[in-house]
Parts: sequence; structure tokens; C-alpha cells
Amino acid sequence: MSGSRIPGFYRLDVAGRHAELKQRYGLDEADLQRLLDGGTLTVERADKMVENCIGVFGLPIGLGLNFLVNGRDFVVPMVVEEPSVVAAVSNMARVVRDGGGFQAEADPSIMIGQVQIVDSPDPAAAVAALEANRGHLLARANAVHPNMAARGGGAKDVEVRRFDDPFAMIVLHLLIDCSDAMGANAINAMAEGVAPLVEELTGGRVCLRILSNLADRRCARASFAIPETLLAGNGFEGAEVCDGIVQAWRFAAVDPYRAATHNKGVMNGIDAVAIATGNDWRAIEAGAHAFAARGGRYTSLTKWSRADGVLRGSIELPLAVGTVGGSTAVHPTIAVLRKILDVTSSAELAMVMAAVGLAQNMAALRALATEGIQRGHMTLHARSVALAAGAEGALVDEVARAMVERGEIKLPAAQALLKQLRKPS
Ligand code: MEV
Repeated sequence: MSGSRIPGFYRLDVAGRHAELKQRYGLDEADLQRLLDGGTLTVERADKMVENCIGVFGLPIGLGLNFLVNGRDFVVPMVVEEPSVVAAVSNMARVVRDGGGFQAEADPSIMIGQVQIVDSPDPAAAVAALEANRGHLLARANAVHPNMAARGGGAKDVEVRRFDDPFAMIVLHLLIDCSDAMGANAINAMAEGVAPLVEELTGGRVCLRILSNLADRRCARASFAIPETLLAGNGFEGAEVCDGIVQAWRFAAVDPYRAATHNKGVMNGIDAVAIATGNDWRAIEAGAHAFAARGGRYTSLTKWSRADGVLRGSIELPLAVGTVGGSTAVHPTIAVLRKILDVTSSAELAMVMAAVGLAQNMAALRALATEGIQRGHMTLHARSVALAAGAEGALVDEVARAMVERGEIKLPAAQALLKQLRKPS
């Protein structure tokens, strides 16, 4: 069975949701077990992943529903601790789906490996020598990872950048096609591999040899255009909501203080998918924020406009993500989540992530521009407070509901309610 609409999924308990997954994705008991209690990332395995390991840390896995991207349905695993992220993104994906879905595209998987050259006796000659030896440099880089080149990837081009002020240096960029891998290890190895040749050619000294997280050759873009009327609800007209979304975006477009929060909302969704798919979310964060500042002033990663009753949203950002290699292969839960997401390439993963970021931003702007963020947040936050107070089972929702009704969502209130509810009648 395909489709990303699973009506009533949120009303099921975890066992009911598992039954649904079993039927839809053919997951077996072992797969389902890997979704529970931190999966099978045993402490023994974790001990091989990091140093000084003392245990394993769990986070909730939710499913972002309703995503229709380039006409394909995606159910999107999201690992995130913040209440309301998964519900909000699923709601907005449903609205966009009703308007025809997301269009998305991704660049080829070109990453940048940087080699820093200092103390060059003749910088102009050094630049010329690097440019003249493009073929040699590429051959040297590809010799480090011959299989990558044999599969059609590998180092494809070089760029030479010269800085004079305030610090003199030359920076060589290796442009490397990483195919379906994020590619960090290969890029770093290639940058290290060409260093001796670079020193020979420039007469300078190589310092850093490392990838750039500003992966601006590997951007993904998603967009949609939907009738404004689809945004009507909670007592607001569609046009009113869409006007609010555009005003909210203008705020982020001109003001870095707002843009930081705006983009944080975008990354709420993107990071959650990055973690669920075993990708390096710090790298993605670094790239996204550097990209947002590329024009000299930090601004929004998304764009919003409305005209003739149509709301248009779009996003563009670097998404250096892989579907092979890295921790995708180490964490057992990730293999199961990948079956659910079912992307065919790293480019498709990047497109889905871009759509998630755009939908997440839309949810935040819609809430902020209408009833405010607190109402929805507080209802979900109340559950976390109830849990923190020691509530279990049905008591979690009961305590949460009571706190929301009283407008007091605090630990002492939850504890008092719990005491009261547990009292034998
Ligand atoms: C909260 O995690 C994210 C928001 O602050 C994003 C935004 O303000 O656009 C709601």
C-alpha cells in the first residue's frame, strides 16, 4: 500500500501505528523492535561510535505525513524532542497536498574540499600553476578514491581563490561529486591527498585540508503554489492568513534577529529528518546558516508571496545529505526508518527535506500570524510537563488537559493534579 495520508494515525496507540507500518511497508517484528526503546543501538555498539561512552540516549521518532513531492508520496521519519513539530508539519503538508503538492529539485552532489596555501613566494605564479595543472590535481585527488571515480563520481573540477587582505593566502577548491554519499571522509582524504602536489606547484605551505560545509553547489529547492482558501480556519479567512504569512516572511527578510528564529523553525523539520536518516545535522545547520548570510546580511531561507488568491512558498538551501555511508550504516534503527521513507537517492532525500523545511516554516508563520504560537505549543508542552511530574498512561493526557484548561502549565500544578487524580475515590 502506498500513500502518505494515513488518516487517524495520531489517534492510534504505538502498537496500532506499528500494525499500520507492518501492513504498509512490510516491516517484520525485528524491524518494529528496532523502533522501540532506542532500537538495537546497544551500548557495545555505541562504545565503538564515540569515546568515553557511558550509555545510549533516546529521542522520539515521529512520522511526518501527507508529503507529496514531485507527485510521489513520502512518509517522513522525524527524530525530534520538541512537541508540535511533527503535527504542525503534517498539517501543512496536507494543505499543500490538497493544492497539488510540492515541486522540488536538487543539484548534483557536488561538494567542496578546501586546501589552504600560505607563504607562497609568488602568489600570482602559484595561482597560474594551480590553474594550469587542473588535470594533474584531479588525477591525484581521484587516485585517493578510484572507486568513486569509477562509479562516475569523484573530483570533477578545481577553483583557485586568492585572498590578499587582511591575510594573504591561496585557497584551492576541489569540486567533488559524492553521488549518494554525504562524502565528508572522501573529500577530506582527497584534500589531504593533493596537498603535496599543491605545495610542489605553488612553492607555498599547505595548512588546512578539509571540506566546506557551505555546500552551495549541492542545494535543494522546493516550492508550491496553492489557493489561499486552503489556509482558512480557526476563525480566519484564507486571505487573512496568507497576508499574515507574507508579512511574517518580510520581517525575516529584512531583520537578522527575526531571520534567525524563522530559520530555526525551518531547521526544526530538516534536522529531525537528518537525524532520522543518519545524516550530520550540524553540517546541514552550518551550511544553511552560512547560505542564509551569502548576500552579506543574514536573511530568510524561504520566500513567500501572494497574488490573485494564490499563496506561493519556496525554499533553497544547501543539503549535503547521503543515503549511503556514514552513520546511516551504523545505527540499526536508521535502516528501518529508511524503509519507511523510501527515497531512491541522496538527491531525492534532499528534495524531501527541503519540502519539510518549507512546510515547517509555513506552520510556524501561520500560527504566529494568527492565534500565536503558544496555544498549540502549550497543549503539547503540557504533556511533557505531565510526564515530568510522573504521570503515566491515560493520566498524561488527563493532567495535561486539566493544566491547559486552568491556564497553568507548570510542574507543581501537574504534581498537584496528579496527586488529586491518583487519590482513591
Ligand atoms: C520554535 O521551535 C520555532 C518558531 O520559533 C519558528 C518561528 O518563529 O518561525 C516557532
